[in-house]
Amino acid sequence: MKTYNWAVLGCGAIANELAQAMEKEGRTIYGVANRTYENGVRFAEKYRISKVYQKAEEIFEDDLVDIIYLSTPHNTHIPYLREALKHGKHVLCEKSITLNARELAEAMGLALEHQVVLAEAMTLYHMPLYKELHKRMKRGDFGSLRMVQMNFGSYKEYDMNNRFFNPSLAGGALLDIGVYALAFIRWFMSQAPDQAASQVKLAPSGVDEQAGILLMNPAGEMATAAITLHAKQPKRGMAAFEKAYVEIYDYPRAEKAVITYTEDNHQEILELGKTADALVYEIRDMEQAVSGSGNEMYLDYTWDVMKIMTQIRNTWGFLYPEERAEAEGMCR
Ligand SMILES: NC(=O)c1ccc[n+]([C@@H]2O[C@H](COP(=O)([O-])OP(=O)(O)OC[C@H]3O[C@@H](n4cnc5c(N)ncnc54)[C@H](OP(=O)(O)O)[C@@H]3O)[C@@H](O)[C@H]2O)c1
Repeated sequence: MKTYNWAVLGCGAIANELAQAMEKEGRTIYGVANRTYENGVRFAEKYRISKVYQKAEEIFEDDLVDIIYLSTPHNTHIPYLREALKHGKHVLCEKSITLNARELAEAMGLALEHQVVLAEAMTLYHMPLYKELHKRMKRGDFGSLRMVQMNFGSYKEYDMNNRFFNPSLAGGALLDIGVYALAFIRWFMSQAPDQAASQVKLAPSGVDEQAGILLMNPAGEMATAAITLHAKQPKRGMAAFEKAYVEIYDYPRAEKAVITYTEDNHQEILELGKTADALVYEIRDMEQAVSGSGNEMYLDYTWDVMKIMTQIRNTWGFLYPEERAEAEGMCR
């Protein structure tokens, strides 16, 4: 397989993890661009990256860049995605990939038009453990799925200016952590949910602080998700099938699942892959997708998750400033 040139746009916490994963693979990132140029220079020195672009636009123009890793805040993704995809770059974009389904549909249209791979960096889709569970589910080892339960809670300081609570930085529980919960649910469901009910508590800043979500798909498979930005919860997922239930802790980068076979209650501990290598798996799958034609990146699942998040936010009447401005523009 060809060795692809990666460039990162944004060099914060998660971009450091990607750079370290590249190093584990004995690779270096080709180029970096960042809003604050000096931070880009520091990042380049740390990871021996040869190219630092003065402006983001230069990444798009560089013919030697194959894959762009986009790791800026959610609400900045769509303008960068438009440019990257129009310039024929493959893009691995951090979650949440866009603010809403309309933006994602636009990006998917551009990816199709320019024949490039567009993907969301959703680690769980790339973990060996989940791939093995998918294989067993499809083989019918567990019988039909009945119910998925999912919790995700992290305690964020009650500061309405930080990115988690700030609407101008696309804050809110759904886009920040709900996206993981819904990705987990989608992984186990045989079809996308088409019915959603929810309850939300808004933070004083107006973003969703915590929510309870209830989903069902046409096959009658149901799921619940409980997410909060202001209380720690175990990151616990459970999928209950006719013949077994599967429990997974710390699920976004999980390396272990406990499977209980309900006929005789015997348990199997399934351990596969390493949490610490989550981004290595993601990089490998992205390059596989760029080189071939498989569904290694599960953009169809990303789409299903984004559609649900958009549908749920619509019922809350919660718009981000960018969405409000767009809606007002359309009314004029
Ligand atoms: N997959 C995962 O496990 C995971 C984990 C954490 C985060 N994430 C996602 O990754 C993204 C970044 O999170 P992070 O934790 O890495 O954030 P972070 O450490 O705060 O870094 C943010 C990066 O984006 C840049 N940036 C900030 N505001 C910008 C703007 N308005 N326009 C352009 N660039 C801007 C920053 O540049 P400066 O140097 O100029 O500040 C910095 O390089 C988010 O979408 C987040 O949800 C994913």
